[in-house]
Amino acid sequence: MSDKGDAERISAGDVILNCRGVHVRFGGVMALSDVDFQVREGTITALIGPNGAGKTTLLNVVSGMVPSSEGTVGLLGRDMTRSPAWERAKAGAVRTFQNLEVFTTMNVLENVMTGAHRVVRYGALSALFKTPGFFSGERRCRELAEEKLTFVGLKDDWNLPAGDLPYGRQRLLELARALAAQPRILLLDEPAAGLNTTETRALAKLIQRVRDELGVTVAIVEHDMDLIMGVSDAITVLHFGRVIASGTPGDIQKNPEVVAAYLGEEAE
Ligand SMILES: Nc1ncnc2c1ncn2[C@@H]1O[C@H](COP(=O)(O)OP(=O)(O)O)[C@@H](O)[C@H]1O
Ligand SMILES: [Mg+2]
Repeated sequence: MSDKGDAERISAGDVILNCRGVHVRFGGVMALSDVDFQVREGTITALIGPNGAGKTTLLNVVSGMVPSSEGTVGLLGRDMTRSPAWERAKAGAVRTFQNLEVFTTMNVLENVMTGAHRVVRYGALSALFKTPGFFSGERRCRELAEEKLTFVGLKDDWNLPAGDLPYGRQRLLELARALAAQPRILLLDEPAAGLNTTETRALAKLIQRVRDELGVTVAIVEHDMDLIMGVSDAITVLHFGRVIASGTPGDIQKNPEVVAAYLGEEAE
């Protein structure tokens, strides 16, 4: 049974990310406690909560970077609880990081090509001997990278050292690199962190285009409430490692426990 076969059986509305009863403990800190989190195909689903609530940890569990001591992670119809990170990425779960992870000395295009290299595979031998397979693979990576740079609006900057881009555009570069890996589900960890209001609005539109034009499901961790309430179909709220609410943006906004959790954060 191929990965592709599994993925093709998935249709709009199916749960493609299914975390059940996830527990993670770091020493004395219970970072996640019996967490359920579902994302349906074709949605933009948000994971929110005050600082330290466990949002990044949950993305780490989903992408295979942190093991859960209990619980299961289903991705694209497969149980991937024990799968290594690369296998989850290959199955189509691709993420970005809360802190900028741009290769500053590479140029913009090369940065995005590293994303494409994760899906366009050719063996070490074909790279060493520069076989026809190597050249067609490289060409495919370049095409994918150019396509995604155009999508995020960075096409004209392709030749710049990535470190020369202003911060906001480095964030877009990260998004392009993740898209070049051709995700089925894109996991974004605070993509608007450090962006100004105009950039945040543009990012919100871009995230909607990722879903609508590229057909990629999005799971997003974010602090900016305007962005979240504007783009999300569903929201799950974490507080001290537990899910305190799950529902539509409307449900969440009037949930008293959620309001109290955020008021608590503001008081700190
Ligand atoms: N690698 C780690 N080692 C120890 N504690 C960690 C580690 N990662 C996260 N934590 C702790 O787990 C809790 C949840 O952190 P995190 O998932 O980063 O929260 P969020 O992303 O919601 O701000 C915090 O108390 C944090 O200090
Ligand atoms: Mg975080």
